[in-house]
Amino acid sequence: MSESTTSIAAPVIAALDELRRTQSDVRLLTDPADLEHYGRDWTRRWTPAPLAIALPASIEEVQTIARWASAHAVALVPSGGRTGLSGGAVAARGELVVSFERMNRVLEFNAVDRTLTVQPGIALETVHKAAAEHGLIYPVDFAARGSCSIGGNIATNAGGIRVIRYGNTREWVAGLKLVAANGDLLELNRGLIKNSSGYDLRQLVIGAEGTLGLVVEATLRLTDPPPASQVMLFAVAEMAALMRVFAVCRRRLNLSAFEFFTDRALHHVLAHGAQKPFDDVSPYYVVTEFDAADEAQQQAALEVFEQCLNQGLVNDGVLSQSEAQAAALWRLREGITESLASHRPYKNDISVRISAVPAFLDEMQALLAREYPQFDMVWFGHIGDGNLHINVLKPAELGDAEFVAQCERVTKLLSGVLARHGGSISAEHGIGLVKKPYLSGTRSAAEIDLMRGVRRVFDPQGLMNPGKLFD
Ligand code: MLT
Ligand code: ZN
Repeated sequence: MSESTTSIAAPVIAALDELRRTQSDVRLLTDPADLEHYGRDWTRRWTPAPLAIALPASIEEVQTIARWASAHAVALVPSGGRTGLSGGAVAARGELVVSFERMNRVLEFNAVDRTLTVQPGIALETVHKAAAEHGLIYPVDFAARGSCSIGGNIATNAGGIRVIRYGNTREWVAGLKLVAANGDLLELNRGLIKNSSGYDLRQLVIGAEGTLGLVVEATLRLTDPPPASQVMLFAVAEMAALMRVFAVCRRRLNLSAFEFFTDRALHHVLAHGAQKPFDDVSPYYVVTEFDAADEAQQQAALEVFEQCLNQGLVNDGVLSQSEAQAAALWRLREGITESLASHRPYKNDISVRISAVPAFLDEMQALLAREYPQFDMVWFGHIGDGNLHINVLKPAELGDAEFVAQCERVTKLLSGVLARHGGSISAEHGIGLVKKPYLSGTRSAAEIDLMRGVRRVFDPQGLMNPGKLFD
């Protein structure tokens, strides 16, 4: 499927030639294969059609690019690992993609502040390893850790599997350097813990999906590693029991994750090589991780299992006894996205407050069963923080455009249910291009007006990732 391919105007081609001639340090790619590779993210819904790809190696080069773009009114699309699921890094309208893949280093570790300063193109997993070298952790984590970049995590305020304990990316960014649309370099918050000196522009930039400027450096907070943990997998008979299991676990255990998935998710992940956990199939499963540093905590986990079993909330359970077993249980949850990729899923990434989950689930389940009887629907996600991923799989015989049109009709209805329950159409993937039509179900007209105003102040010409988030 494709939307919009743009022919590039002659003056823009001439401006690009001038950039190449006068700034020979700025590496530029224009090969069709590169344009295709760097012009898309994991959504695969738009045909990439960027003007060119710039691969800056320094902040100064990013400033040069921004000044050039501003002088010639060329739109810029920031690009990290391009693992985004909402089209936030798509360049389909003659934009210049600014790839941060050459700006991928750790710049500084500060032992006193317990911070790591990094360039935006660094992979999340490399940050984890760098923190571990100093006996600390950077706690934001999710399955795309090996390929996503910190710049992209900041752009979407990425969440993941341990939000329940550690919160989202915004809790862990102590400072940012931003190249503004006019090429100015801004230092936002400078790593301070306490800073009561006006608007926190750093927090505005986090989650702005690249619309307020180009993040060129981030100072990340690190923390102590958690105590030893165990992972438990529950087989659950009813959706209504999921949040009751959560309540029992949260009361007795010190949780770091509480995730769920359905039998359909298990089916796909097993077909992808994961190990079958139980002989019998249950409609729902929960993977939970918790501190298990001593006998008392390990005993509490067994008691939680017994209690859930006695109350009829779970049918079965398995408790990890080694790191390898914990990894095998995690694979059942973390392998889902990859196992679904070939089915070209339509992704819903929605959230409500934890207290609203039970009523919301009831209404959603009824809505989706009614509206999607013909599709394979895979439910999973971070239910412990109210975030559900409902992936609808494309039947092989249905064309891409028709499939998306059918899904979008349902998303409109879903957006209404979310509005009634005070939820969000995007919990952690971002709005990008994919969820733009539904932003008004989550944000009021007054809020969107203010957001537009903020964007205009940062970027009067509208050149920073235009078309994303809102027009
Ligand atoms: C995940 O949590 O696995 C992803 O954010 C969800 C998805 O691929 O839809
Ligand atoms: Zn997720």
